[in-house]
Amino acid sequence: MNISLKGRDFLKLLDYSQEEILYLLGLAKVLKEKKKNHENHAYLKGKNVVLLFEKDSTRTRCAFEVGAMDLGMGVTYLGPTGSQMGKKESIADTAQVLSRMYDGIEYRGFEQTVVEELAKNSSVPVWNGLTNEFHPTQMLADILTMQENFGEVKGRKLVFLGDARNNVACSLMVVCAKLGIHFACCAPKELFPNETLVSICKEIAQREGSTILLTEDPREGVKDADVLYTDVWVSMGEDASLWEDRIRLLKPYQVNKEIMSYANPNAIFLHCLPSFHDTNTKIGKEISEKFGINEMEVTNDVFVSSQSKVMDQAENRLHTIKAVMLATLKDE
Ligand code: CP
Ligand code: NVA
Repeated sequence: MNISLKGRDFLKLLDYSQEEILYLLGLAKVLKEKKKNHENHAYLKGKNVVLLFEKDSTRTRCAFEVGAMDLGMGVTYLGPTGSQMGKKESIADTAQVLSRMYDGIEYRGFEQTVVEELAKNSSVPVWNGLTNEFHPTQMLADILTMQENFGEVKGRKLVFLGDARNNVACSLMVVCAKLGIHFACCAPKELFPNETLVSICKEIAQREGSTILLTEDPREGVKDADVLYTDVWVSMGEDASLWEDRIRLLKPYQVNKEIMSYANPNAIFLHCLPSFHDTNTKIGKEISEKFGINEMEVTNDVFVSSQSKVMDQAENRLHTIKAVMLATLKDE
């Protein structure tokens, strides 16, 4: 099938078909190969992109910056302070102004409605670099990492443990449904994903021959898993006062050696990162002092084990984000 994504926004994977997602993954593989072989791939020379970040980032920002530079583009970074957006200028006006200067706009921030509003008012592609609801570029890196470890991903099983309402968990449920990957999330009921999204995903999964399971029992969820995935217990933008409650609710869902042993023997561990797997961070240290817990969503032994593919996954952010920019910006 001839797939063209020229001019398309990349806001959430619900907007993309299975074929389009697989096309982006294929393109990412080609670009990864080119990068490894030091082959020039500056296909977008003369274009410029702007990165709007209302929340902090290491991977997403760097992947967009290096990706854009590898493709031959110029890049402007606008951080949480320093631009007029939201304070003196509306999203709609900002989108129109930036569209006059740039060929593509990346946005990381709070409500999904903001990135949707930007896209509605922009005449160039808008890419979602994380909102409270979704993190679609992360998904491409996650699936690419699965493909590198298992080949065909259809029919495999990915299990998320932790705050299953968050952007990463919800996006995983969507991408798994779209690609026919069995998805389970293990969490206390109050942290189950939004019911409307679950029913949309169940319908898609059924069409693709996979299943979606929501369970409070980690042992049940993890059975036959090929991938165990977790994320921080409190996400960016959430109040720090939530830590106490989240630790209480989510401690039984920590990915540790015992939980790993309930999965398939060749199962891999993934995490979008950043991760609290030790106390070598400011927040990790504060939590340790306050609540006496030194490892949170994943234990350090799992994080550094041979089953852990988190650094491959982090690298894959670059190749997949580059694929999104190339596919949506390249002239036919
Ligand atoms: N996984 C991810 O999005 O990381 P950053 O917050 O560092 O971009
Ligand atoms: N759920 C996390 C993901 C970080 C990449 C957050 O939103 O902070």
